[in-house]
Amino acid sequence: MKTQLSFAPPAEVETECLAVVVLDQGSKDKVEVSVEASDSAIKGATADVMASGEVTGKIFETTLLHRPAKLKAKRLLLLGGGKAKNFTASELRELAGATVRFLKPKGIRSFALLVPESAQTETAVKAIVEGAFVGNFDPDTYKSDRKDQKMDSITVIARGDQARVQKALDEGRIIGESQNFTRDLVNEPSNRMTPTILAERARKMAQEVGLKFEAHGADKIKELKMGAFWGVAQGSDEPPALIMMRYEPADAPASPVLGLVGKGVTFDTGGISIKPADGMEKMKYDMAGAAAMIGAMRAIALLKPKVRVTAIICATENMPSGKAQKPGDIQIAMSGKSIEIINTDAEGRLVLADGLCYARQLGCTHLIDAATLTGAVVVALGYVNAGVFANDEKMYERFNRATDEAGEKFWRLPLDEEYKDNIRSNIADIVNSGGRWGGAVNAAMFLKEFAEDTPWLHLDIAGTAWMEENKAWIAKGPSGIAVRSLVEFAREFKD
Ligand code: BES
Ligand code: MN
Ligand code: ZN
Repeated sequence: MKTQLSFAPPAEVETECLAVVVLDQGSKDKVEVSVEASDSAIKGATADVMASGEVTGKIFETTLLHRPAKLKAKRLLLLGGGKAKNFTASELRELAGATVRFLKPKGIRSFALLVPESAQTETAVKAIVEGAFVGNFDPDTYKSDRKDQKMDSITVIARGDQARVQKALDEGRIIGESQNFTRDLVNEPSNRMTPTILAERARKMAQEVGLKFEAHGADKIKELKMGAFWGVAQGSDEPPALIMMRYEPADAPASPVLGLVGKGVTFDTGGISIKPADGMEKMKYDMAGAAAMIGAMRAIALLKPKVRVTAIICATENMPSGKAQKPGDIQIAMSGKSIEIINTDAEGRLVLADGLCYARQLGCTHLIDAATLTGAVVVALGYVNAGVFANDEKMYERFNRATDEAGEKFWRLPLDEEYKDNIRSNIADIVNSGGRWGGAVNAAMFLKEFAEDTPWLHLDIAGTAWMEENKAWIAKGPSGIAVRSLVEFAREFKD
């Protein structure tokens, strides 16, 4: 999708559709709608419909007018943005996505969106562009009658300093495209997204954006003594991949180094502790954590913050076979800790344990992992919030700011020492499954053992990486959750 800026008066912009935001200025139950534009031509063109009482300003309400008087636009779209006092960049991002999704099926291929008068211009422009890209993604890749309903171009009508607004637009495009890159990876089924293919896709991207790249197979995993990772990978005929990407700009200090560790289970059958058939097809998205890290690295490479970032992706299938690990087996992790395998379906924490250890060995001073780790986080937080765990307050605070900036929802869950009792083993240092109660916390407690004293965040995105329903602003399917927050975090990251 092309992104363009216009500083022309909105009435002068020639476009298939000019979209303007309508906000409800009233308090509580009182509705008091107004168009977010002081332009007299727009006021004139909207006067009748605004007076009719048909427009309530409710969030995602759409009112489409044809041939608006005295405007060069062919259509005028009024976008409800909800209550003015609750209207932030988050709502605007989603409105832009909703606009794309509203116009696409009508065969409209380009539109213009007027930055609301009350919004901070650069923040608004960036959010609009991000949201438009998110809304432009559809997951129906393999439909033979696929109608390519992509929006071809968006024009953002802005005001203010041209260079700064252009920069905001470019940033929005980089982030939006990177989120969609992640979604493309997650959308692929496991026969078309093996660990090897994931590594190749990451390699191609890394070359395009100038990231250092390495990918290794089983030999290196064994050489590094990644017994936890290999324990999962050993059961599969499909070779695993240990993928590394480094962003090391010349102008960045030697420290800190942010380590991004992704769970890349390209298909999770559960292994010998096999999952029920019902819904198992969804386990193709068990590499969404890895994909989020890869997408974030793409954006980071293009946005060029002055900080070092290393990504480690542990990619493998989790399969039952004659070679597969079995409940009761003991694996020795790279860190030297012994792990009793209680449930082979708790495989994500095994691959991440060695990924975290390796990231520390490579010199990462701060760690973030992302994983579709537990069904329990879905029970706890549903499809709305992703879970975040932290062993470091400062890092959590920074991440919390980043999620606000990015408009993504994360909810912090605890890591009290008492939960450690749940992962004690009689025979080894630790078990890989702490049972049903507090399952998301038990998994995080397990990872905490491998982050050791390094400041660390764990993102459990099992409930949020795949949208079960279409929303006004985003199609059902892979969401690309965490990409934007990770990027905002990295951009602000310093010691
Ligand atoms: N990949 C799953 C978690 C998952 C569940 C992701 C639902 C997305 C949607 C993970 O590997 C898993 O199987 N976890 C088990 C852990 C249990 C055996 C301790 C779970 O959550 O049931
Ligand atoms: Mn599993
Ligand atoms: Zn899994």
